[in-house]
Amino acid sequence: MKVLGIETSCDDTSVALFDSNSGVAENLVSSQIQLHNHFGGVVPELASRAHLVNLLPLVDHLLENHKMKLKDLDGIAVTAGPGLVGALLVGLSTGKALAMAADLPLVGIHHIEGHILANALTQDMTFPACVLVVSGGHSEVIYMPEVGVYEKMGGTLDDAAGEAFDKTAKLLGLPYPGGPPIDRLAKEGTAGRFKFPRPLQKDPRIVFSFSGLKTAVRLEVEKLPQPLTEQDVADVCYEVQNAIVDSLTQRLFKAAGMKNVKAVYLAGGVAANSGLRERTAMEAQKRGLHFLPPERVYCTDNAAMIAYAGYCHFSAGRADGLDLDSFPRGVLKTWK
Ligand SMILES: Nc1ncnc2c1ncn2[C@@H]1O[C@H](COP(=O)(O)OP(=O)(O)OP(=O)(O)O)[C@@H](O)[C@H]1O
Ligand SMILES: [Mg+2]
Repeated sequence: MKVLGIETSCDDTSVALFDSNSGVAENLVSSQIQLHNHFGGVVPELASRAHLVNLLPLVDHLLENHKMKLKDLDGIAVTAGPGLVGALLVGLSTGKALAMAADLPLVGIHHIEGHILANALTQDMTFPACVLVVSGGHSEVIYMPEVGVYEKMGGTLDDAAGEAFDKTAKLLGLPYPGGPPIDRLAKEGTAGRFKFPRPLQKDPRIVFSFSGLKTAVRLEVEKLPQPLTEQDVADVCYEVQNAIVDSLTQRLFKAAGMKNVKAVYLAGGVAANSGLRERTAMEAQKRGLHFLPPERVYCTDNAAMIAYAGYCHFSAGRADGLDLDSFPRGVLKTWK
């Protein structure tokens, strides 16, 4: 089965071809980072306009690269939500138009299911599992007994982990998105110079809170002589990353113990973080749990994960009609 995936939920325009015989044939991403960098965050209207300009040429390019016509596909999968509605609508309308033109089945995918199933692009996933979803807009632990069955065990009370990286990076004068530069600079940092909070550690629920981290970083940074030295910035990055990784892994493994799972997984942009990947691998090994991180290119937004999720839905006989709508918010629901 050959599925075209379309992802336009935020600031990356992406299309991909998943072939059930050979895996991801190609994953094309047109990044808008340069466009939004100047504003320190994503400007929704600019994102929608850029998707509109970039999406169809990317689809043409993908099909040409594989000497395919639309009718050679078996289905189209498109992110229906959550995300920026204007941005989602560009992908959704394009997916519907292409499906109608070539008489192909269409399926709407929950973006978070895509992030989770990115793990399956490079390995056979082991179940039951607990998945830590950590992206720009989400921080939650999901219990997953099989593909298509999702139970949210808890999540953030305020900022998402990706937001915590982005906001602290902004305070340090680092570019947007802040996760990659913090990850890189943390490797040069020395431990123990700063102490940042790890809130709610004794709370019996699976909960995170990252809003206090931003204030704590600001207060520490203000105490230092200005401008900050490269070593100051690296030392703050080291402890910011450490505080976030501590909070996330403590709750992930608590959840894994509660559900007695066989595996843990990471999903979303923050799953690309070196500190988080290393700590999760270490803690999983201690407990005899299976863990392999997703490939870094499939952590941030991409259409390969959406195409693969579409393949899972089509294989289970699920498809949507042309009345499929976008949704800005909404939890990932079980569909099996
Ligand atoms: N190496 C890294 N370390 C830490 N954070 C990272 C790293 N790489 C990317 N990120 C963070 O990942 C986030 C982007 O992830 P993603 O693309 O999944 O988010 P999103 O699509 O905007 O949000 P959502 O998936 O919740 O809708 C950004 O906040 C970015 O800083
Ligand atoms: Mg995302």
